Amino acid sequence: MERAPADDAGSAGGRSIDRRCRVLSEHRYPSADVAAIERVIRERRDIRQFSAGQLPEGLLGRLVEAAHRAPSVGYMQPWRFVRIATSSNREALWRIVDQERMATAASLPTRAAEFLKLKIDGIREAAEVLVVALMPGREAHIFGRRTLPEMDLASTACAIQNMWLLARAEGVGLGWVSFFDPEAVASLLEMPPGSHPVAILCLGPVAEFPPVPVLETQGWGSRLPLDEVLFEDRWRAGAGGTPTAY
Ligand SMILES: Cc1cc2nc3c(=O)[nH]c(=O)nc-3n(C[C@H](O)[C@H](O)[C@H](O)COP(=O)(O)O)c2cc1C
Repeated sequence: MERAPADDAGSAGGRSIDRRCRVLSEHRYPSADVAAIERVIRERRDIRQFSAGQLPEGLLGRLVEAAHRAPSVGYMQPWRFVRIATSSNREALWRIVDQERMATAASLPTRAAEFLKLKIDGIREAAEVLVVALMPGREAHIFGRRTLPEMDLASTACAIQNMWLLARAEGVGLGWVSFFDPEAVASLLEMPPGSHPVAILCLGPVAEFPPVPVLETQGWGSRLPLDEVLFEDRWRAGAGGTPTAY
């Protein structure tokens, strides 16, 4: 990527850039920490295959705390977490997901049988299951949402990503499941009107973190080259959406 031209690169401007760079580097983490952050971003995986066993003592709390440290539009902190503690609720969630899995297969234009062979959740096997929901009363929060109300969901996705990265660094798998009817989940968990479930998170020990996304290995997509997602100054003429594999 080209840098912006240094149009203030005269002696005074140059000095101020130098000072800015120095200030930035004073705040820089040690290189090993920066490398660790890049590594966890690269090696995070969506996990649906879990091994037996529990999370290490205290880790679930730290994972939720990491999520709760996420940025949020207008600082609204719209995320709420429901830990699924009973096997009856877990089974009911799994049934809701399985129903949606079938409905998705029926709505695919092609590859339905292949899709049905994919494992799309680890609800029954995971050590822990959390439902993440948007809180009720979000309409009262206007900062940053007047024209983009969906920024509540964007904030909650940031929270989940925080959890995802810490889980990976701790060697624990996390899978985000979104195959469900939100009304069915809301009703199962007695959620108040105005709340909205957006994720079922499965967490637990794993045998491996695949080096590439499972959907890539199984021919449902691949990482786009960077220059297909990064444009300069204006939308690149002719650039469209990511093609589907079905
Ligand atoms: C919002 C969201 C919802 C997702 N829902 C599901 C899901 O229901 N089932 C599933 O198997 N994976 C789900 N995934 C995981 C994606 O399939 C996965 O992120 C993608 O294939 C890339 O793989 P990676 O996360 O391992 O890099 C979801 C991911 C996101 C961000």
